[in-house]
Amino acid sequence: MDKKVTVIGSGNVGATAAQRLAEKELCDVVLIDIVEGMPQGKALDLTEAAPIEKHDAHVTGANGYEASKDSDIIIITAGIPRKPGMSRDDLISTNKGIMKSVVTEVAKYSPNAVLIIVSNPLDAMCHVAFEASGFPKNRVLGMAGVLDSARFRAFISMELNVSVENTHAFVLGGHGDTMVPLPRYSTVAGIPITELMPKERIDALVERTANGGAEIVSLLKTGSAFYAPASAAVEMAESILKDKKKILPCAAYLEGEYGINNLFIGVPVKLGTNGIEDIIQIKLTDDEKAALSKSADAVQELVEILKKSD
Ligand code: NAI
Ligand code: 2OP
Repeated sequence: MDKKVTVIGSGNVGATAAQRLAEKELCDVVLIDIVEGMPQGKALDLTEAAPIEKHDAHVTGANGYEASKDSDIIIITAGIPRKPGMSRDDLISTNKGIMKSVVTEVAKYSPNAVLIIVSNPLDAMCHVAFEASGFPKNRVLGMAGVLDSARFRAFISMELNVSVENTHAFVLGGHGDTMVPLPRYSTVAGIPITELMPKERIDALVERTANGGAEIVSLLKTGSAFYAPASAAVEMAESILKDKKKILPCAAYLEGEYGINNLFIGVPVKLGTNGIEDIIQIKLTDDEKAALSKSADAVQELVEILKKSD
């Protein structure tokens, strides 16, 4: 393939993302992990599935970073996931150390890559990656809004018994309890859901979306969601690799947009070859603005914790 994506962290999200990238034949894939033999084993397993899945993407595994050289995109899933009772924020100090060391290495070998951050707490980890890489802001972005919006879409489709393909949704803000699902901009076949279901049902779906990660953690008990997160990261990667210019909600570094400064937070962006090619500013009501500002405050608190631990 003429494109190359390296996935750092070959656990649940990383390995599933590698599988989806290869099976969609989007690029060659390199899987990296600190556990010896594991990325190599998963890469070989995926390679052996290729004749059946009918793709010619090369998948390789490694424990060192040389294999990541000249990647177009680096997806970073390295870190620890949360367990029942833990919030995403409880992961901050462990995952900060991991993120810093990983990004320093990948930036050395792929100075022109776009970084898609997945590790939690997501918005805070984007800050760590931005600083450690020294990359411009258009080439550092976080995956959360696509996942949260997909959850909202799945719940809308279940509620109204319609195809998921007819649904569209926007969830903005930080990837945490303060995320901001936007029912006014969430539609079925172009019709806002505010016209299709009563407020109590919308409120229930909004709440389920905000707790979507915790709902899966409480069922799995040993880790967090990975199928939908991997799909979300791959949708972002595909838009960049194919220069599709899709508008997707992603964590982006804001400098005044939505009245927010020097902070990564989820907003609609246009994704193409250069990573974030535009930040789309949609009109928000006063209540929506207040919810986004509350979410920004929660991310800012985490960034302060990061600064104190430097
Ligand atoms: P996992 O535990 O299955 O995989 C993580 C992998 O990272 C492990 O294989 C581990 O060996 C590896 N790793 C740890 N330190 C490393 C290092 N220094 N270098 C390279 N690899 C290293 O966890 P899972 O479920 O894949 O989740 C990964 C991360 O993504 C977690 O922080 C989780 O909270 C986050 N996540 C974020 C989502 C989002 O919406 N942004 C959604 C789902 C997960
Ligand atoms: C999720 O939302 C754990 O952040 C992850 O599933």
